[in-house]
Amino acid sequence: MKRSSSFEGYSLLVITFMVLFLGVRSQLTSNFYSTTCPTLLQIVRKEVQNAIKTEMRMAASLIRLHFHDCFVNGCDASVLLDGSDGEKFSGPNVNSARGFEVVDRIKSSVESACSGVVSCADILAIAARDSVVLSGGPSWKVVLGRRDGLVANQTGSNLGLPAPFESLDVITQKFADVGLNLIDVVSLSGAHTIGLARCVTFNNRLFNFNATGAPDSLLESSMLSDLQSLCPVNGDGNKTAPFDRNSSDLFDNHYFKNLLTGKGLLESDQTLFSGDTAPSTTKSFVERYSNNSDLFFTDFANSMIKMGNINPLTGSDGEIRKNCRVVNS
Ligand code: HEM
Ligand SMILES: *[C@@H]1O[C@H](CO)[C@@H](O)[C@H](O)[C@H]1NC(C)=O
Ligand SMILES: *[C@@H]1O[C@H](CO)[C@@H](O)[C@H](O)[C@H]1NC(C)=O
Ligand SMILES: *[C@@H]1O[C@H](CO)[C@@H](O)[C@H](O)[C@H]1NC(C)=O
Ligand SMILES: *[C@@H]1O[C@H](CO)[C@@H](O)[C@H](O)[C@H]1NC(C)=O
Repeated sequence: MKRSSSFEGYSLLVITFMVLFLGVRSQLTSNFYSTTCPTLLQIVRKEVQNAIKTEMRMAASLIRLHFHDCFVNGCDASVLLDGSDGEKFSGPNVNSARGFEVVDRIKSSVESACSGVVSCADILAIAARDSVVLSGGPSWKVVLGRRDGLVANQTGSNLGLPAPFESLDVITQKFADVGLNLIDVVSLSGAHTIGLARCVTFNNRLFNFNATGAPDSLLESSMLSDLQSLCPVNGDGNKTAPFDRNSSDLFDNHYFKNLLTGKGLLESDQTLFSGDTAPSTTKSFVERYSNNSDLFFTDFANSMIKMGNINPLTGSDGEIRKNCRVVNS
């Protein structure tokens, strides 16, 4: 009797311990590499700095990579895997996603300092934060401990990532599918304060005229004519325009100011403020962010942390990739 009850007590203790341990283990933490790779943050910061010195746009490209990683199978570096059946060749990424060579350089510097320890998914999360900071945006503590996935998911990339032609309802649903809300939709869209977009992503707005001959889009007229010259019918769809014409390298709240005057580049940008179906919440957040850069920065940082927490692999799931482009053999 005695033995049995102490055995029960023991197993209860073990189970409690395992639940606690697993619970703790699946949480990302900001000091995850503090003993295994204490110089990690400095290394990534320096490499991002170098990349941006060569090409300022790289900051935008790196932020977008983290986004495209997290929305597909969680933040597991699946977007980085090579192969024509991978995410790199999905509709949203092909001829569009960039920065893979920079990620390779960061990874190789990190491997030199602490071999086999730091995941590519964590590198993307840190590089995205550093890109925002080095562009003049807010900073936040990046939580770490993600592991790298073993598969890419091209279908997931095609279905899960929002497209610029989609309605706000559909886009909002795609965010909701990964646990993000309407405020996250608006604040994270503010990343379009830096970077460029190709003609093919917005030329649907340039040459459709309604019955009275007016452009059938919400684009402000001078921006419309500039974009019509940049992106003529049958022109080079790979040409690019800045999202924020006032300051395309500066992470500020001009994206939201632009929306107030019809200067959103993508249909999905402008619709946050002007869409027929735009709920009062998105409109009012656009207004508030346009007026209050601190509020935008705070909300953006919080939403980035939320996005970085989408379905991470932790514990012994996945692996620490040696080369971000291929799973370990
Ligand atoms: C809300 C739904 C979103 C849609 C429909 C969307 C769509 C797009 C499109 C079409 C482009 C241009 C791609 C090209 O030229 O091929 C782009 C670029 C970009 N997106 Fe988004 N995006 C969304 C949300 C986000 C989020 C959440 C982030 C990050 C937090 C983000 C960051 C960026 C950045 C920084 C660029 C510029 C990249 C560069 O210059 O290389 N976007 N986005
Ligand atoms: C790919 O993503 C879809 C969601 O879009 C999911 O249903 C499917 O299980 C994923 N496949 C793999 C292999 O992860
Ligand atoms: C953009 O460039 C790529 C390769 O450089 C090419 O394959 C593609 O067809 C081009 N896309 C458009 C819309 O012109
Ligand atoms: C942005 O640029 C436009 C012209 O390109 C100018 O009219 C406007 O005043 C600028 N706005 C800000 C806030 O700098
Ligand atoms: C911005 O704030 C000012 C004063 O705080 C207010 O008068 C103005 O209406 C606001 N603009 C928007 C678009 O909310």
